[in-house]
Amino acid sequence: MSIIFNEKTKTITLHTKNTSYQMKIGNLDYLLHLYYGPSIPDEDMSCLIMQYDRGFSGNPYESRSARTFSLDAQPQEFSTQQQGDFRTSSIEVVNSDGSYSFHGKAVNYKISKGKYQLSTLPSVFAGRDDTADSLEVTLCDVVSNIQVTLLYGVFEEADIITRAVKVTNHGKNPVYLKKIMSMCLDFLNGSDLDLISLPGRYGQERQVERQAMTHHIHNIGSVRGSSSHQQNPFVILCDREAGEDYGRCYGFSLVYSGNFLAEAELDQYDQLRFVMGINPKQFLYELKPGQVFECPEVVMAFTSHGFTALSHLYHDFYRTNLCRSKFVSQVQRPVLINSWEAAFMDFDDVKLVEIAKAAKNMGVDLLVMDDGWFGKRDDDNSGLGDWFVNETKIKCGLHKLVEQINDLGMKFGIWFEPEMVSEDSDLYRAHPDWAMEIPGRHAVRSRNQIALDMSRRDVQDYLIEKVNAILDDANIYYVKWDINRSLADIWSNALPPEKQGEVYHRYVLGLYRVMDKIILTHPDILFEGCSGGGGRYDPAMLSYYPQYWVSDNNNPIDRLKLHYGTSFVYPTCTMGAHISDSGRFVPLETKAVVAMCGTFGYELDATHLSKEELAICKEQSQRFRKYYHITFKGDFYRLTNPFQMGNMTAWQHVTKDKKESLLSVVVTNLTCNGPQEYIRAKGLDADAFYSINGGPQIRSGSSLMNAGIPINREVPEYSAFQFHLVRQDEA
Ligand code: DGJ
Repeated sequence: MSIIFNEKTKTITLHTKNTSYQMKIGNLDYLLHLYYGPSIPDEDMSCLIMQYDRGFSGNPYESRSARTFSLDAQPQEFSTQQQGDFRTSSIEVVNSDGSYSFHGKAVNYKISKGKYQLSTLPSVFAGRDDTADSLEVTLCDVVSNIQVTLLYGVFEEADIITRAVKVTNHGKNPVYLKKIMSMCLDFLNGSDLDLISLPGRYGQERQVERQAMTHHIHNIGSVRGSSSHQQNPFVILCDREAGEDYGRCYGFSLVYSGNFLAEAELDQYDQLRFVMGINPKQFLYELKPGQVFECPEVVMAFTSHGFTALSHLYHDFYRTNLCRSKFVSQVQRPVLINSWEAAFMDFDDVKLVEIAKAAKNMGVDLLVMDDGWFGKRDDDNSGLGDWFVNETKIKCGLHKLVEQINDLGMKFGIWFEPEMVSEDSDLYRAHPDWAMEIPGRHAVRSRNQIALDMSRRDVQDYLIEKVNAILDDANIYYVKWDINRSLADIWSNALPPEKQGEVYHRYVLGLYRVMDKIILTHPDILFEGCSGGGGRYDPAMLSYYPQYWVSDNNNPIDRLKLHYGTSFVYPTCTMGAHISDSGRFVPLETKAVVAMCGTFGYELDATHLSKEELAICKEQSQRFRKYYHITFKGDFYRLTNPFQMGNMTAWQHVTKDKKESLLSVVVTNLTCNGPQEYIRAKGLDADAFYSINGGPQIRSGSSLMNAGIPINREVPEYSAFQFHLVRQDEA
């Protein structure tokens, strides 16, 4: 059992292979946080906590004349409200008498085998061979009878601990939740920690930023209704000197697709509090007697060995314990061609078949019909919501079109944007009240579309019926599920005024219900997520979709940063990456090398390619398949940082047994007559010998990792190289 309760010391210690995490039912039954880091035995770590009379930091009433116990200075497992702790709170409740107060004390705990379940939200699961245990600790406020149950999932071999929270109203009156975080982690000293986040914007998602902790609340979050392009629900806290290969790193990854918040507060005593959960902005959730509120899960990982080791923990875990789709591991992902940058909305069935015929010669497996096939949809001002085939464009009908593609020996995929409606659509004309618009006010338009009120059951049922009807009508192999605006005008016509503070979260719950009923009922369809590129690239979405479109920005040089940042937490096999016409001066080979970092495909008008180009693409598709077992199942290494001035960006995939590796390099900037550059490999067997691209030269793993590979500098700008390293077992 990886969870141990010590009766004598009242400590609860969680152990994974390389880490330990400890809390204690401490003074006055407050639940204190004692430790998270490299493995320790079950010793009581409360010796770390010193108690002083801290001026202006109050003491709970029950501590009587003892002035040294202040919650303002104690490390807590889930901070309380109005108990003299002035740091950021984990919970804010408005009680039925109007008071803002929650005094949570530990009342019981439960340890069980297996992973706890959340019933309304996606969460990670334990595989058949995983050792997973769960802990529940319940905190109760005896006046209001509000109970907060802290949930912990301990994945021993994976070195992962998950956290979530359930709030239950056992009182007699309704209360309102104003803020409820999924986790709180108090560090006894955080002044030497840095915070790394993945901010961005449309077309430039998940760039990497690092900031030192100073004495205020560092706040990372989204209030756009989705996890967003602008921030990602992933944060690292690490040693100031931590790098790819060394340093303590704590990772926090929230399994949620709506508004989120991560706060890191360095307090007056250099303690650091970190909380993460649903963003409290415009959040006010009524909890009636007997009702339970579930908070989304945070997946935590710790390593002392730097960012690469932290990424590997997440990559391995998210590859096996997040998404149940058979496309995660049982079925190889297809090479696809997408119609978007080939034709935008200007296509018909004949054009699509022409593209497919040309793509067949490129070794492509799957044609994806993107936006423009339904309702009245010739531009982005109309049609959303009308999920029936536009037969002036698809004249032969969907069934026949799919048959024609299948007859070429190719599979067929289709695009949807279920959550949106155009004012110029049959759906909006029939149900204007289904759109998110505040009565008496004009809605904010974005791409000239309005969000549907996904919190409504009737809206959810309409979408489930319409999308499923299309998926069941033809032989659909793949679906791209898009969303192209942020939410504004948060309002539901189906809810009374006092419940409008629930709409942001109910939208997300409604979306998950729709996804359950469409995605989980079609296990043979490969689903790819998209949000105007990568605007909702989060673990909750990845629990449904094995792959997600990284960005609408297909420029391969920009993609180097996009892939780099995304890879800090998400495995590269989730990264939708295509070759398109974007980046005109970048050679086709470089585009292929970059797209092979992810799921690989094309997004261009194949009918315009020359015979030679078609043949080049065919070889690229074959190469992607040849290296698939390395890039989809191997360990990923960031060899250089594209955000730093350098001449090359390099990365590497290595099979788990270290027998094979694919090392990729893009030359981004070579100065005239400059020095020779070497790329040092990682993750190889130092004592083994490797061939390079099947050539006669054999080099030791040690020399490849320590001396590196010389990169030819007499090459055109933006050239790329791939080095396929194969271990020579007989050497
Ligand atoms: C945004 C996506 O990111 C694009 O790939 C494309 O599907 C368009 N939406 C279609 O409207």
